[in-house]
Amino acid sequence: ELDRGGPGLLAGKTVLITAGPTREAVDPVRYLSNRSSGRMGFAIAEAAARAGAKVLLVSGPVSLSTPPGVERVDVESARQMQEAVMTLAPNADVFIAAAAVADYRPAETAERKLKKDSGDELAGMKLVENPDILAGVAAMKKDRPFTVGFAAETNDVEANARKKLEKKQLDLIAANQVGADRGFDRDDNELLLLDAKGSTPLGAGSKRELAGKLLAVIADRIQ
Ligand code: CTP
Ligand code: CA
Repeated sequence: ELDRGGPGLLAGKTVLITAGPTREAVDPVRYLSNRSSGRMGFAIAEAAARAGAKVLLVSGPVSLSTPPGVERVDVESARQMQEAVMTLAPNADVFIAAAAVADYRPAETAERKLKKDSGDELAGMKLVENPDILAGVAAMKKDRPFTVGFAAETNDVEANARKKLEKKQLDLIAANQVGADRGFDRDDNELLLLDAKGSTPLGAGSKRELAGKLLAVIADRIQ
């Protein structure tokens, strides 16, 4: 039976967390983004602070207040999130990537608002892939934190999550099913933890409950 992450469980540890969506600017008034509310990452930050950790939260644009005792850095784009994370990661014992990073950004950001009648400029917008922040931390040669990813999947949750665990060389991945009525922008969730040794279902619950259970597993692994 996993406990809920009591006080002191992460005393003396530094936990770095990403949360929320990123926004990728098309022009000064438009962006590409996704449905992430930031709630899972903020719940983890709150639980980690309660468990006695020093908590660094790198957040995309969300409408959530900063949990007590958490140091928050606000960013907009994936590249800004990556820069903040790579600066902070060498001082972290644990990195948890809960952000829904936009996978692609417009190849160019227009300096002026694109007009409807600009035709191809919008209809033919070129996209380029964003850096994978989580894979970047996992590949650190020096001072690499214990690295935890999330996998948001609409189907074949366990198989897809295991592929991400292996490809990105993570220590642990938390898989959840997402869709129109699951995962994003909700208070509850259901997580399955996977690592090289096997899988541990954390079950369904509030994001707060699941955050406590996830941190209990992580605390156990880094002792
Ligand atoms: N992630 C990241 N940087 C990116 C993309 C994803 O740090 N540019 C992290 C997420 O925070 C999450 C994990 O990688 O912890 C998996 O994200 P997910 O979107 O499920 O997987 P992707 O690798 O982006 O693959 P796909 O979206 O094609 O399923
Ligand atoms: Ca993605």
